[in-house]
Amino acid sequence: PETITIADLANRMSERAVDIIRMLMKQGQMHKITDVIDADTAQLIAEELGHAVRRVAESDVEEGLFDIPDADELLQPRAPVVTIMGHVDHGKTSLLDALRKTNVVSGEAGGITQHIGAYQVVSPLGGKITFIDTPGHAAFTAMRARGAKVTDLVVLVVAANDSVMPQTIEAINHAKAAKVPMIVAINKIDLPDARPEKVKTDLLQYEVQVESLGGDVLEIELSAKTGQNLDKLLELIQLQSELLDLKANPDRLAEGTVIEAKLDRGRGPVATVLIQRGTLHTGDIVVAGSEWGRVRALLSDKGTQLADAGPSTPVEVLGFNGTPEAGDRVAVVENEARAREITDYRSHQKREKQAARVGAGRGSLADMMT
Ligand code: GTP
Ligand code: MG
Repeated sequence: PETITIADLANRMSERAVDIIRMLMKQGQMHKITDVIDADTAQLIAEELGHAVRRVAESDVEEGLFDIPDADELLQPRAPVVTIMGHVDHGKTSLLDALRKTNVVSGEAGGITQHIGAYQVVSPLGGKITFIDTPGHAAFTAMRARGAKVTDLVVLVVAANDSVMPQTIEAINHAKAAKVPMIVAINKIDLPDARPEKVKTDLLQYEVQVESLGGDVLEIELSAKTGQNLDKLLELIQLQSELLDLKANPDRLAEGTVIEAKLDRGRGPVATVLIQRGTLHTGDIVVAGSEWGRVRALLSDKGTQLADAGPSTPVEVLGFNGTPEAGDRVAVVENEARAREITDYRSHQKREKQAARVGAGRGSLADMMT
C-alpha cells in the first residue's frame, strides 16, 4: 500500500507537521512526526488544508516504460546483445580485445580505446553484434534484480587448462535465471596443458550439455591469444541469434538500461546505456531510475559523437543531472515536468524503503549486508 511520513507530507505541502498531527488527533489518531500514514488519510488531510491532490501511482509512473509491447508491424530486426561471462583470468578480457581486432577486417580502425563496457563488432557473416562486458558480474546481478532483460545470449568463457571454477558456475546460474541461451567458449586451447574434453564433462555436472556430447548447448574451442576460431565464435553467435528472431521498434521514444554509470570530473554524470527499443536523440529528456536529464551528447563505443542511437546500440549518454545506477531502466519522456514527476516519485519511494529498513532492522547483520 502507498504510504507517506507525516514529515514528508508536511514538506510537500509546505505546511507545519504539528498541524497535521493536530488534525489527526482530532480524528482520534495519535502520531509522531516520523510516523507513516496511508495515502487515503494523507489525501484527506491535504484537501482539508486546501491543497489540490494528484496521486501518482506506481502504475502511472511505470506505464509505457517497458511494459507495453509494440505492435508486430512496427518491429524491425536488431543486433543481438551478448554478455561475456566466466571465471577471472579465463580470458574474458583477452577474448573481448581479440574480437575487437576482428573489426579491423571490416574496415574499422584498430587500436580502439574501449570507453565503455559495451560495444559493437561486425560478424564475418555481416551482422552486427553488441557485446557487454560485465566486470565482477555486479552490473549483471543488478540488472537481473531489477528484472531488466538486457542480454539475448551469454558467452561462457572457460579456460581449457583450468576448467569449471566458482565464477563459471555463478555465470551458468545467471544465464539460467535470465533464461537466455548460452554458448560455451573453451579458451586457451593453445596451451600444452589444455584439456577441452575435461571442460565439457565437468560442465555436465551443472546441467550444461554441449553439442559434441549430444546436448543442445553450442560450444567452440578457441584461443584469444592466437585468434584461432574467433571468427567461428562470431558465426555461432550470429546463427544462434537468427534463431531468436530479435526485433525492436526503432520509431518510438527510446527505452534502455544503464550498463554502468560514473561521475566524470570534466563531463559530469556519464551513463553507458544499452538502447533496447526506440531511438535516443540528443536533446531528448531522459529518465533513469531516480535521475533525469536532457541528452547533451551521445558517444559511441569508439568515442565518436552520434546524433542518435537505435535498438541494440550501446551509447554513452551525457547530460544527466545526477549519476544513475547500473541496472536502472532508461526511458525518454515527453517533457521536463514528467521527468521531475517520475524521479520525485522514485526518490520518495527510495527514501521510504531506506527509512523502513533503518526502522525495522536495528543491528541485524543480515540487514547490513543487503
Ligand atoms: P577479465 O575478467 O575481463 O579481467 O578477463 P579475465 O580475467 O577473464 O582474463 P584476461 O583476459 O585478463 O586473461 C588472463 C590471462 O590469460 C592473461 O595473462 C592472458 O594473456 C591469458 N590468456 C587469455 N586468453 C588466452 C589464450 O587463449 N591463450 C593463452 N595462452 N593465454 C590466454
Ligand atoms: Mg582480466
